[in-house]
Amino acid sequence: MTSSSFSNRGNISSFLAMDVMREANILQQTGQDICHLEVGQPSTKAPQVVLEAARQALDSELIGYTDALGLDDLRQALSAYYLKTYKVEVSPDRFVITTGSSAGFILAFLACLDAGQQVAVTSPGYPAYINIIKSLDLTPVTIPLCHENNWTLSATNVHDAEKTHGGIDALLMASPANPTGTMLSKQALTDLSLDCAQAGRWFFSDEIYHGLTYSQEATSALQVGDHDRLIVMNSFSKYFSMTGWRIGWMIVPSKMVRPVERLQQNLFISAPTLSQYAACAALSSAAQDELKSHVELYQDNRDKLFTCLQDNGVTNIAPADGAFYLYADLHSLSPSLESETFCAQLLKEAKVAATPGMDFDKERGARYVRFSYARSSDEIDRAVNRLNEFLARFQ
Ligand SMILES: Cc1ncc(COP(=O)(O)O)c(C=O)c1O
Repeated sequence: MTSSSFSNRGNISSFLAMDVMREANILQQTGQDICHLEVGQPSTKAPQVVLEAARQALDSELIGYTDALGLDDLRQALSAYYLKTYKVEVSPDRFVITTGSSAGFILAFLACLDAGQQVAVTSPGYPAYINIIKSLDLTPVTIPLCHENNWTLSATNVHDAEKTHGGIDALLMASPANPTGTMLSKQALTDLSLDCAQAGRWFFSDEIYHGLTYSQEATSALQVGDHDRLIVMNSFSKYFSMTGWRIGWMIVPSKMVRPVERLQQNLFISAPTLSQYAACAALSSAAQDELKSHVELYQDNRDKLFTCLQDNGVTNIAPADGAFYLYADLHSLSPSLESETFCAQLLKEAKVAATPGMDFDKERGARYVRFSYARSSDEIDRAVNRLNEFLARFQ
């Protein structure tokens, strides 16, 4: 086999944040102290009750396969969680437990769309969206957002994109968003999801950053959308601080449960069983105090980092109302700065890892940098000291 016989589907861009993380980890292994502001990786472990539940499950359970849709207990606990958190009734039957939301995207795309169909995503946006869409032989349509509109998406933006690209079969978006931290208002989310339903377009709502909000609660598309045209993806990775447990969930229309079950059976069999037991505990009230303390920590981190950047001339920063990222425009510091060079120097000289904006926006990202503030207070303090010194050279 020659290298030219590899598929086009696999010929996708790398996930830059993960490339930076690998580089930062290599430096760390040589004994250097690195501040990890490059990935959305909480520095905290899963809550204590989750760790205890996992230990107990190891002792008492087989840890074999589960039903493809997931453990009944977990699906029921999630249904109760939606009633409590969003005041919305969703039958446990509509929950599908997935290997992180990443596997949820694959299942949802395969269940709803055929090769060639168009999926709209925002730019900037989470880079894996486009790469997953391409690798499944679907066609991404990027909708550019802008600072002037507070980096938000509207139904008008989707209609404008259709004028250029033709019919859009599905819209995938996140609120709070990565990398901007922007949140849609309840009205804006209602308009977008109902517009999708009217147009017969799938609405995929990635709600992975719910719970990580600093001024208002996030609205779930389930509260305002048409449940027959809507798929909600979520995960235990971020709010529940369980990235490596690879566990998430989807809520799908009743009619889609069986097709998704068949796909899951064949593609993944079931989500990781130990993580499913642990996830039940993450939803319990016993985990809540610890999880809330993480949000307070992130808010504090966000304020420190925001002030540091502003004081050093990086004045154009996206809203950061939710999630744990600051998306900062380097041109407010100096109009000739390129984020890839900036991030490479920042890592090499100041030992602070951050992600170049090209990961999130291929057209305009060269002037932006994303800083993650999901770290410990100490690590953020060290990063702020180093940034103060590093940024002084541009004054
Ligand atoms: C917006 C968004 N969606 C999905 C994911 C993937 O998360 P998971 O760990 O659930 O696969 C991420 C990870 O950073 C993300 O930022």
